Amino acid sequence: MYDVHSVREDFPVLKDVIYLDSAATTQTPVPAVKAMEDFFYKYAGNHGRGAHRLARETTNHYEDARESVADFLNADANKTVFTRNATESINIVSRGFPWESGDNVIVTLVEHHSNLLPWMRLKEIGVELRIVKPAISGIVDPEDIADAIDDRTRMVAVNHISNVFGSIQDVGSIVKLAHKHGVKVLVDGSQSAGHMPIDIKSLDPDFFVTPGHKGLLGPQGTGVLFMKDPDEIEPVFLGGGMVNSVTESGYVPEASPTKFEAGTPNIPGVIGLGRAVEYVKDIGVSDIEKHELALTRDAAARLAELDGVEVYGPVERSGVVPFNVLGMNAHDVAMILDQTRAICVRSGYHCAMPGINFLGVDGTVRASFALYNTEEEVDILVDTVSKITSLVD
Ligand code: ALA
Repeated sequence: MYDVHSVREDFPVLKDVIYLDSAATTQTPVPAVKAMEDFFYKYAGNHGRGAHRLARETTNHYEDARESVADFLNADANKTVFTRNATESINIVSRGFPWESGDNVIVTLVEHHSNLLPWMRLKEIGVELRIVKPAISGIVDPEDIADAIDDRTRMVAVNHISNVFGSIQDVGSIVKLAHKHGVKVLVDGSQSAGHMPIDIKSLDPDFFVTPGHKGLLGPQGTGVLFMKDPDEIEPVFLGGGMVNSVTESGYVPEASPTKFEAGTPNIPGVIGLGRAVEYVKDIGVSDIEKHELALTRDAAARLAELDGVEVYGPVERSGVVPFNVLGMNAHDVAMILDQTRAICVRSGYHCAMPGINFLGVDGTVRASFALYNTEEEVDILVDTVSKITSLVD
């Protein structure tokens, strides 16, 4: 039985603030922080690099974390790579994919910069970027993506949930349509993983990325990259840990995932992420989804009823509510929310300028929700925004 008040006890900072910025980063639960503390205090060693007991114990915990994350996403562990964040995961794919000049890649206008810039830069090697527009709700029609595909399209890179609109994309249909044309699909799960059930085997993307520090509740500096066919991607980073043998004339890399994890990784972070994912599993991601959707849709509907407030995005939204108080700058609204009631929201462009420009505004206030938020917090948000509207002449 989902009990938000007992969940909140695992996130001590929530005693001091109303935290509504989980789309930027979630809070990390006590058991995950303790797992990282155990690493430092009880067994810190390097990963895959030593025969002694601390190195072995570290390697075991790190690989257990991989099993946890892979199991949570229903993905193969040997195709599940740890990175620093979703941005790094996408760059590994965009840099390592076997492009040819004249190829093209399709994205949508509602990508955050992490899923836009790595593809944009490919013009340096003659790869064209095609940008498909969504409806004003932020929802992209899979048929519009199919229409943009031609015989030189190699990749569709699309968000699962928009961090600007909260729109949920029909990635199942996008994957099927793209595959019909022999085109690969990268699904950016930055706002979906941990917020809704994800089954990589049934969704069947070629690549799936997520940061560790959002819905998965892990620490910052952790990310995940799933690749259906890792052999197709050239590793971007070379060095210690990713190589099987080296001579004066060359090297033979290890197989995936090791081949993509050059250098000492963020070992404590990955161990914390593994424990955080177990925490999400114990609560149940379907229950988390139900809780977050109810809060978010209620917050969006009640904010939209206020005079002088404009709410953006679809009715059937995920955990993100973007809005503006008409006549006020989004940053000013965010500052007042913080200073009057310790409400933490993000404001501005949300690392997604084209999506915000598409709305015809120069920023929004964004309230975003996670498993630990409550109806009482929604009441305080709506009440405070209502008072802010009375400050406008
Ligand atoms: N992309 C993150 C956000 O939406 C950082 O806030």
